[in-house]
Amino acid sequence: MRQIVLAGNWKMHKTQAETREFFAGFLPQLASLDPARQVILCVPFTDLAAALEATANTAAVSIGAQNVHWEEQGAFTGEISAAMLKELGIAYAIVGHSERREYFGDTDQTVNQRLRAAQSSGLTPILCVGESKATRDAGETEAWIFRQLQQDLVGVDQSNLIVAYEPIWAIGTGATCEAAEANRIIGLIRGKLNHPDVPIQYGGSVKPGNIDEIMAQPEIDGVLVGGASLTPDGFARIVNYQIPVEA
Ligand code: PGA
Repeated sequence: MRQIVLAGNWKMHKTQAETREFFAGFLPQLASLDPARQVILCVPFTDLAAALEATANTAAVSIGAQNVHWEEQGAFTGEISAAMLKELGIAYAIVGHSERREYFGDTDQTVNQRLRAAQSSGLTPILCVGESKATRDAGETEAWIFRQLQQDLVGVDQSNLIVAYEPIWAIGTGATCEAAEANRIIGLIRGKLNHPDVPIQYGGSVKPGNIDEIMAQPEIDGVLVGGASLTPDGFARIVNYQIPVEA
């Protein structure tokens, strides 16, 4: 059975005080959350401890990091290892987000190393893949994503993995990929994986106003949410999405 996974990615937002304030507003809105839904908040490294403390008594919410280094330790100024995250009690880490690939030099090779390091310390990585506008316009979306999967997943245990399809042109732009198209691509991604239960999320301008339509798609197992995960009310609406009942 594929797990439903609804994840927030705060990117470089929120202090510890703001983190505590978020959870004070968010957690009470989970009172009638469907227990089949796993909620994850991927917060800045400096907020991890505060987020763990705030959610210590809430089984429905897990805390994740936004990146992880591939070495266990060493002379890597500014980096954080999987073992350091695991010791804190972190369960998940985003790997290969398009912003890391674009601004911080991540390649398919380093993404692969990060995935394997995360898994070997017992974390579940959330691998992000997705095409740019230029790649889509050139008709190369499928080939681009298949190559990313092929290279990123070498030696990766797919029984402990989440994949997020995030078309770069839809991230932070308000231009959501149409739900049916996201569903189509996610179905193609599933066809390239070797484990049937890998949850595959959609990410890119997910909002309270489009979550119900996105989650109604049969191939889409969850979402990875940037901007709309920053407000307790907005993210609560997203995790409490409702599938419209057919008339
Ligand atoms: P967005 O970001 O929801 O703000 O578009 C998504 C992401 O980058 O994961």
